[in-house]
Amino acid sequence: MADAEGNIDAKNYGIGVETNNEGFFLKGSGNLDWGVKARLSRIFNPKSGNTVMLAFDHGYIMGPTSGLERMDLSIVPLIEYADCIMCTRGSLRSVVPPTCNKPVALRFSAGSTILTELNNECLAGIEDAIKLDASALAPMVAIGDPNFEALTIKNLAKCVDYTAQYGIPTLGVTAVGKNLVRDARYLGLATRVCAENGATFVKTYYCEEGFEKVVAGCPVPIVIAGGKKLPEKDALELAYKAISSGARGVDMGRNIFQSENPVAMIKAVKAVVHEGMKPDEAFELYRSEVNK
Ligand code: 5RP
Repeated sequence: MADAEGNIDAKNYGIGVETNNEGFFLKGSGNLDWGVKARLSRIFNPKSGNTVMLAFDHGYIMGPTSGLERMDLSIVPLIEYADCIMCTRGSLRSVVPPTCNKPVALRFSAGSTILTELNNECLAGIEDAIKLDASALAPMVAIGDPNFEALTIKNLAKCVDYTAQYGIPTLGVTAVGKNLVRDARYLGLATRVCAENGATFVKTYYCEEGFEKVVAGCPVPIVIAGGKKLPEKDALELAYKAISSGARGVDMGRNIFQSENPVAMIKAVKAVVHEGMKPDEAFELYRSEVNK
């Protein structure tokens, strides 16, 4: 209990020193609650404003994907280099050391696999996400899917309600259906729909033509997935072009964990994302890390 008498007089009021009324560093996030901003500040580096998220949630639809057969061997050594990890609650509990001290973007919807129909998904339970100390909830949103568009937008809306209730950001993950083209028109629509429905940030794909319009038309930060494995130099170029066009980071999986040298690759990707390193230089960095 505080003492009532004999206390030192309070006098350091900083009279004349302006209080810090700086806005928040991420686009469209200025009016969010403190807890949402605090979690976003763990995912995105407040200095660069960007993030390298390491995605290894592929098994939830694809089973033991190449590079993810033994995540304890392939993924755990990479975690220290990531700003954030994106995974399922199954892999989190079974493989990821709780001591890793990294923010988790939790894959938060599931329901079907590549063997049947993708995107027929329901949400996991919010209590479990809280128990797992999730820094973001990540539902799949299948815009344009004739069967599951409405269902997945409802899932997104429910996550946004959780964001409002519990302060955990929602990462809208735009799915690409078999019949949908990854062009600026589609990606612009899909990311905007996620943002309009309240997603705190959105994961989508890069497109060569008009990606800057996709970013400009989305009022919240965009991170890009890496997609199928490319040669390392091409993947670094993809990351560079996305960041140069306004993406705030990558949520990259296969181009890191399927690389010949995943540690070297994630270090090179980080240099591109946080330092704006050009692809040629980043590839040199990759090569020098390989030869260490
Ligand atoms: C898998 C996903 C992945 O998280 C996402 O596609 C990023 O991984 P990659 O860079 O390998 O595309 O949503 O379901």
